[in-house]
This record gives sequence, C-alpha cells and structure tokens, in this order.
Amino acid sequence: MATSKPVLEVIIGSTRPGRVGGAIAQWFYELARAHEGFESELVDLAEVNLPLFDEPQHPSRQQYVHEHTKRWSEIVSRADALVFVIPEYNHSINAAIKNAIDYLHVEWRYKPFGLVSYGGASRGMRAAQVLKPSLVALKMPYAGDVTISLPITPVVEGVFKGDEQLVKAAGVLLDELARLTPVFQALRA
Ligand SMILES: Cc1cc2nc3c(=O)[nH]c(=O)nc-3n(C[C@H](O)[C@H](O)[C@H](O)COP(=O)(O)O)c2cc1C
Repeated sequence: MATSKPVLEVIIGSTRPGRVGGAIAQWFYELARAHEGFESELVDLAEVNLPLFDEPQHPSRQQYVHEHTKRWSEIVSRADALVFVIPEYNHSINAAIKNAIDYLHVEWRYKPFGLVSYGGASRGMRAAQVLKPSLVALKMPYAGDVTISLPITPVVEGVFKGDEQLVKAAGVLLDELARLTPVFQALRA
C-alpha cells in the first residue's frame, strides 16, 4: 500500500515586485522535489496576499473572521515541515513574513522548519537570527539553514543557480528535515 509522504512547504517570504526571492525559492523547491522524503509545495506570500494582521481574536483560538485567514490556515495546516525563504531588510526580516507568521498559531506547532536566507555580505543571517525566536516560540523545531550571498551567487535573468556549496547545504537541511518530520508528525497525532 502506498503511504503518502510528508508535505514540505517552501514559502517565498518576499512579496516585493521584482524580488529575487521567487527565483531562490524555485531553486530550493526543485531540490526539495528531487528529495524522496517529501511531497513539496511552493507557497507564494505575494499570492496569499494577506493584509496587515486584522483578526480580532488571538490566533490560538482559531476563531478566524476573515476569509484570507481561513485560506492561509488551510495552506499551513497541510504542511508537515516548512522552509522559509527570506531576504534581509535593514538588518532584520521583511514585514510580510512576520505578518504571515503572526496570523496563525496552532497551525505552526511542532512542525520542523528550515531557513534559506539571502542578502549581501551578511547572507541574510541577521534576518534568520531575528525570525528564529518567533518560530521557536510557536514550538517549531529548527532543522538548519542555507545562507546565500547575492554578490557571490546572484540571480541572473530571473534564475538562481546555487553553487556546489549551497546545493550541499540544501541537501543537509532537507535530510535533517526528513529526520525530524516523522517524529513531530507522531507528536502532533
Ligand atoms: C528595504 C530593503 C532593505 C534592505 N536591507 C538589507 C540589509 O539590511 N542587508 C542586506 O544584506 N541586504 C539588504 N537589502 C538588499 C536585499 O538583500 C536585496 O535587495 C534582495 O534582493 C532583497 O530580496 P527580494 O528581492 O527577494 O525582496 C535590502 C533591500 C531592501 C529592499
């Protein structure tokens, strides 16, 4: 009998027109699809199109009044593991990613996550370090990261090709997610 694989959602964190985040997420998503441990999905926050957080109740109650929140809740509920592809803005995270995270609560809990961060010399690491405590507060276990320097490995004509080192780092992250995911699926059950 065929058993279904865990769902890994790769989230495009930047919503900026002209962003490079879409190309970087596409690169990681293709590596995730080639990994036998997951059924992978690409989720674009620009398409999810959430307004600034506008739910009256704390998300832990799941008493959502807005259709956009219900749709977002359904998307994240499907995930067994997540990878957030995030830019660094002003030595921190971009607003859209924090906003999207704050909308939900239970949907994130006990789901392993990885970070793919990018930027200049910092490789987006300051953004990653800012985001991590919020995800840990939501009881998400951290599986690792991939950090990308855009000056060294740029997006060219809308396409990102990670070098050997980045492909290896992505593989390490996917393997670690694959190790953690069944453990936390069992915990959620
Ligand atoms: C508002 C803003 C602030 C930025 N701040 C930083 C920064 O602090 N560190 C950094 O390495 N790059 C910074 N950058 C450059 C981004 O890394 C670069 O523009 C990248 O393409 C942004 O990701 P995106 O195109 O997917 O939105 C900033 C870019 C923007 C638009």
